[in-house]
Amino acid sequence: MFDLNNNKPQTGEKRSVYLDHSATTPVDPSVAEVVKRTMLEQWGNPSSKYRIGNDAKIVLERAREQVAALINAKPEHMFFTSGGTEADNLAIIGAMNAARAAGRGDHFITDAIEHSAVLKAAEALEEDGFKVTILPVTPDGFVDPDTLRNAMTDQTALVSIMQVNNEIGTIQPLDQLVAVARERGALFHTDAVQGFGKLPLDVQTLPVDLVSVSSHKIYGPKGVGALYIRAGVELSSRQFGGGQEKGVRTGTENMPGIAGFGAAALLCSEKMVDDAKRIGELRDKFLAWIKAEVDGEVIVNGGLENRIYLNLNLQFPGVEADSLLLALDLDGVAISIGSACSSGSTNPSHVLTALGLNGEQANASIRVTLGRSNSAEDLLYSAQMIGKHVKRLREMAVW
Ligand SMILES: Cc1ncc(COP(=O)(O)O)c(C=O)c1O
Repeated sequence: MFDLNNNKPQTGEKRSVYLDHSATTPVDPSVAEVVKRTMLEQWGNPSSKYRIGNDAKIVLERAREQVAALINAKPEHMFFTSGGTEADNLAIIGAMNAARAAGRGDHFITDAIEHSAVLKAAEALEEDGFKVTILPVTPDGFVDPDTLRNAMTDQTALVSIMQVNNEIGTIQPLDQLVAVARERGALFHTDAVQGFGKLPLDVQTLPVDLVSVSSHKIYGPKGVGALYIRAGVELSSRQFGGGQEKGVRTGTENMPGIAGFGAAALLCSEKMVDDAKRIGELRDKFLAWIKAEVDGEVIVNGGLENRIYLNLNLQFPGVEADSLLLALDLDGVAISIGSACSSGSTNPSHVLTALGLNGEQANASIRVTLGRSNSAEDLLYSAQMIGKHVKRLREMAVW
């Protein structure tokens, strides 16, 4: 019922299309099998010294290798956590406390479009007496290395700038930013949750000190992530217990989650290049189809250059994005407004306002993020539904 060659949707046949892969991804069936096997067959405690424990330990260390391989890290520098949020918190709070205790400074720098796992950690640091600088971003959504350079002081202990933004998909110039931090002897943390497994990141060539990653953005289970810690970097952990993960993140490991994370990471290393090509081409077609379907203005928020291949953040002036979300949901299309990780909030997105959008513009914006399961037919259908509802909502609105 779809005429792909003609670039035109033919009918309004209803489908179910998931376009929110930056919120989470469906678990790959082969990964789910690994999770199940770990629960039923390799259920031992990896700290136990008998065979059942050793079997679990093998699973744990294999997963560590698989996750580490995606950023070319040594497995012994990768520490499992309960997700990206915990990895961010551990990196930032842990590195700043260790720096203050060692007299290496009490100044932390991050930027205005970070995930709340970083921004709220910065607030907690401030409450604890640390100095915090939040850098502005350019209207396209990038941190300017000169802005970072000007903010650095002799007291700057840590800089935290994400690899890929979760709302607008911009890829930060990490090589330049890390170089600036290094000039002044500060550590560098990157929240790579949105880029991990999708874009290359090599800790042997990029001298980043701390990297946060998460499983559920790469078709793995939820509630598991990891923090890369460069050799010699000290963190002070606020969690006390049996000393697992070399005491960096103590507590019996989430073995099914970790095994699934490893399997998902392995799949990414096999699929990264093909995914980027196929999904990137689809994303570009999708944008063209949306522009063809929507009467009137469609604005892409953030720069299209240096943006992860799966992301579009679109503004439809005159449309309430939350009404559009609900209407699309009824037609089977799942998109998001702002960051789904902080759903429930009706405030305009802090990322879009940092780009200079006003509340009205931010609230007229949606995020669509594509993934492995999306087909051209899905996207053509979704473009048609977006066109239909934007037209209707614009007619209803007084503007
Ligand atoms: C950029 C970024 N950082 C951190 C997180 C938090 O990761 P997790 O959901 O694994 O705690 C997310 C989740 O959306 C994210 O997009």
